[in-house]
Amino acid sequence: MEKFKLAETIRGERIVLLKRIHEQDEQMWHAIEESRLFMREYLPWVDRTKSIDDVVKATDLFAEYWDNDHEWGFCLYSIPEYQFLGCIGVHLIDFKNYSAEIGYWLRVSEQHKGYMTEAVKIIEEELFKNGIHRVVIACDTNNRNSGNVAKRAGYQLESIAKEALYHPTGLHDKEIYVKFSPYPVKDFD
Ligand SMILES: CC(C)(COP(=O)(O)OP(=O)(O)OC[C@H]1O[C@@H](n2cnc3c(N)ncnc32)[C@H](O)[C@@H]1OP(=O)(O)O)[C@@H](O)C(=O)NCCC(=O)NCCS
Repeated sequence: MEKFKLAETIRGERIVLLKRIHEQDEQMWHAIEESRLFMREYLPWVDRTKSIDDVVKATDLFAEYWDNDHEWGFCLYSIPEYQFLGCIGVHLIDFKNYSAEIGYWLRVSEQHKGYMTEAVKIIEEELFKNGIHRVVIACDTNNRNSGNVAKRAGYQLESIAKEALYHPTGLHDKEIYVKFSPYPVKDFD
């Protein structure tokens, strides 16, 4: 398929997705500090993020990732308050096979309000409109909050990859959720 990039600003009803840039570093740092005890269970980078300098370095990396289509990383903000909520990113972007995977996190104080389910639906629609056919959400089988986001957003459990995910306690099983585009496959030859 033709390569594309997502828009740097994508608006929904209650949230807006903004490409990750340095202006968001400080708010992101506070959100990580607030949430680290909860998030470290499933996000290995949380323990490696020891100061705001680590957030700044990661944002530099994300800029490279954006440019080379390794990952498109966004920050989520509420509308109209522009409160920093968390992040959502598209990785494993595979133009050749029309597929991509979504990952996400929300600061603890903004969980259980449906923001991530909305963000997933917004970003998947942009992917589908641009020609991606298969969108995946993968998570630790113990991570019920993440699996429930996938289910609530209409993803089907396709398979469970055994002992496929590193966790400090051992290799955990990984649930693979999938949704397919409602649009015809673009530029297929
Ligand atoms: C995974 C994670 C983002 C899920 O957050 P979440 O707040 O549970 O998900 P949502 O924002 O979609 O909110 C859904 C909840 O809001 C409720 N809700 C309230 N208003 C809602 C609305 N308008 N629409 C949908 N749900 C709504 C839902 O009933 C649901 O409640 P529940 O959690 O009691 O079942 C969060 O737990 C997290 O950041 N975890 C740590 C990082 C992580 O594990 N990331 C994934 C790695 S694979």
